[in-house]
Amino acid sequence: MQLVIEAKPYLMQDPHPPGLSSILSSEGPLCEVEQWDSDEPIPSKELERGVAGAHGLLCLLSDSVDKRLLDIAGANLKVISTLSVGVDHLALDEIKKRGIRVGYTPDVLTDATAELAVSLLLTTCRRLPEAIEEVKNGGWTSWKPLWMCGYGLTHSTVGILGLGRIGQAIARRLKPFGVQRFLYTGRQPKPQEAAELQAEFVSTSQLAAESDFIVVACSLTPATKGLCNKDFFQRMKKTAVFINISRGDVVNQEDLYQALASGQIAAAGLDVTTPEPLPTNHPLLTLKNCVILPHIGSATYKTRNTMSLLAANNLLAGLRGEPMPSELKL
Ligand code: NDP
Ligand code: DGY
Repeated sequence: MQLVIEAKPYLMQDPHPPGLSSILSSEGPLCEVEQWDSDEPIPSKELERGVAGAHGLLCLLSDSVDKRLLDIAGANLKVISTLSVGVDHLALDEIKKRGIRVGYTPDVLTDATAELAVSLLLTTCRRLPEAIEEVKNGGWTSWKPLWMCGYGLTHSTVGILGLGRIGQAIARRLKPFGVQRFLYTGRQPKPQEAAELQAEFVSTSQLAAESDFIVVACSLTPATKGLCNKDFFQRMKKTAVFINISRGDVVNQEDLYQALASGQIAAAGLDVTTPEPLPTNHPLLTLKNCVILPHIGSATYKTRNTMSLLAANNLLAGLRGEPMPSELKL
């Protein structure tokens, strides 16, 4: 649903060019909109064609807005609005250098994403996909004391890697399950946010070593890329469960595969991978102790609608030179 916007007054012409429409204001047409009207990603050639000379771009997290695309867009481009809170697909240094403003969608997806993270954690630690499969394939032969046992949250230690909006919302939801202790990492301690959870700020290695459950909820930056690697997994308890809802690149997937396959850690639940989609013959998909979802953290109808409205309003405000409802500080 990328919108490429030309902020020139536009009068409806007959015949109307395909894919082109206009947004009207009380004073008349505000801008001309070219929309990729499909749930499938826009082909890069099509995006390049549409963005050339445009004043605004509404993009998805699957569109890489790099130097090349910005060069193609040219000097007219003043606003980029992304339908995501994550901005790792945007070349922020280049964007800042060019004086382009960026809108994004924080807060409105926090609840949906936290809800999904908790679902994924429970699904993974209680081995639900395996258990469902056993019912279907006849593996359920009788009630057996140790069959299909997993790990529970009561009296556990949960480590949140990145206690941001979503990290806090996840921890808040996990607390009533009887979690005993929360640990967190980040760039610096956040005493105010941590107080409600009595969460302790620790180093990444302490978080790895002491947590029964680890939830990765940080943003993807050069500092977090590959943060969960061989060393990290080696420090984890053999009984610990690893969850990632952030971005695939925070994890070294080969190291994760080794950790899971060798029994170094108990299980992993991933809503995000590298690449996306994950090829169906990927080794991680052969492991029973790895649950993989197709990046559906914010996927509720209500959340996606709210995100879409926010992204459109960010773009329009940016084109008008007004404060955006959610503008990224560059
Ligand atoms: P926030 O900006 O509120 O939180 C980001 C967190 O990342 C902050 O707590 C920040 O720490 C932490 N962080 C940054 N750098 C580091 C670092 N070097 N080490 C450890 N932590 C670090 O963003 P949100 O909570 O709103 O979103 C977080 C991310 O979740 C998004 O960037 C996106 O990638 C992902 N996401 C995934 C979704 C899905 O569908 N799976 C849905 C929505 C978001 P500090 O507080 O110290 O700055
Ligand atoms: C985001 O917003 O960054 C998510 O990955 C999708 O909602």
